[in-house]
Amino acid sequence: MRISVFGCGYLGAVHAACMASLGHDVVGVDVVEEQVAALAAGRAPFHEPGLDDLLTEALATGRLEFTTDPQRAADAVVHFICVGTPQKRGENAADMSYVRSAVATILTLLKPGDVVVGKSTVPVGTAEQVAERVEEQEPEAELVWNPEFLREGHAVADTIRPDRLVYGFRAGEGGERAARVLDEVYAAALADGTPKIETDLATAQLVKVAANSFLATKISFINAMAELCEATGADVTQLADAIGHDKRIGRQFLNAGVGFGGGCLPKDIRAFMARAGELGVDQALSFLREVDSINLRRRVRMVDLAREVCGGSIVGRRVAVLGAAFKPHSDDIRDSPALSVAAQMQLQGAQVTVTDPAAIDNARKKWPELAYADTVDDAVRGAEVTLLLTEWPEYVALDPVELRAVAATPRIIDGRNCLDPATWRAAGWTYRALGRP
Ligand code: UDX
Repeated sequence: MRISVFGCGYLGAVHAACMASLGHDVVGVDVVEEQVAALAAGRAPFHEPGLDDLLTEALATGRLEFTTDPQRAADAVVHFICVGTPQKRGENAADMSYVRSAVATILTLLKPGDVVVGKSTVPVGTAEQVAERVEEQEPEAELVWNPEFLREGHAVADTIRPDRLVYGFRAGEGGERAARVLDEVYAAALADGTPKIETDLATAQLVKVAANSFLATKISFINAMAELCEATGADVTQLADAIGHDKRIGRQFLNAGVGFGGGCLPKDIRAFMARAGELGVDQALSFLREVDSINLRRRVRMVDLAREVCGGSIVGRRVAVLGAAFKPHSDDIRDSPALSVAAQMQLQGAQVTVTDPAAIDNARKKWPELAYADTVDDAVRGAEVTLLLTEWPEYVALDPVELRAVAATPRIIDGRNCLDPATWRAAGWTYRALGRP
């Protein structure tokens, strides 16, 4: 099937490559020339395991192309909207300008029978407006809202074998027909038994923000418990293990630490609150304000803990920060708790050196005033306190005996509760963590 993908950022680049690998004929369209050039050369402009190989393979088949020319998508029958909806500067609401411009372009291409598929995370109500515009432009074209749940670092697998498919469409013949076209696009996943939920446009849009709000709430719940643990001498990791055995609760997303960041969870809960306000139901989501505050409070607590460990002041202290990405296996530094802590400490007078296996280039652009090191040893050399803020496997596997030789003072704060306290203490380190004695 001939498919177009508008927006070749995280979501769109992965979606385009995966659809081509499934046998579809795909054109990815983006306005950023460098991004298109990199993708066309088989290089993802961001770190995503497996994506470069997938791009190279798919490009070699001739079934995948990337372009800045939307006319290349004129013969596509399914048009995916995969552009970003970042947080507006100084506001909680989402910036919808990329969606507006992608929709305007797609409208110029529509033919009878075409299906427009919205994947971007949008404020509920957007899809209804897009559906009307599609209908006005081409009465025999249809919109389906099909939210995407991919996780960075697992994006390829999550796209090819999603844990569920959600189609939102308007009742009637056109909607039904469009849903069957989407069934052909996702034939492989459906044949594998992937559950599918067919619903209305509003529900489909809400599913995405509801899922991300739930995940954010789960993380902030355990981080609130970490605050209680700190006040009582309890251990939040054992608490999480114990409550996580209850299948109704589950252990996933109960890792306490410096909290959630990235390009989705923080901005999605804020945009959701903003939209609820517009809909007159802001009270329904007022708990998300607390979820956001608990999350941000963990970053402040991390800085306070470093200060405490350093004897009351971090001014002039050498600090090593392990991790810049918002989570491992990613070079994404958007709203990264690690960099936020590093920058706060630097602003408060510490001399901070950051290292990360993938995100240093991005971090340097955003925070040029921080020092960067390519290796853990170089970052920790001479450090009076070391902060582990992104749980890359190589940091979790660090040898405390070897690392002790380079640190000026063997003090570590485990911001992700991913190290074994006994091993580090036995190697002579002062070990502290969030929510753990
Ligand atoms: C998230 C959703 O998981 C995904 O379904 C959606 O499509 C996009 O947003 P992503 O942003 O890639 O995906 O990251 P995710 O794996 O959800 O982690 C988000 C943040 O939460 C990270 O900063 C991570 O370190 C943090 N986290 C996660 C915790 O602090 N504790 C946990 O237990 C889990």
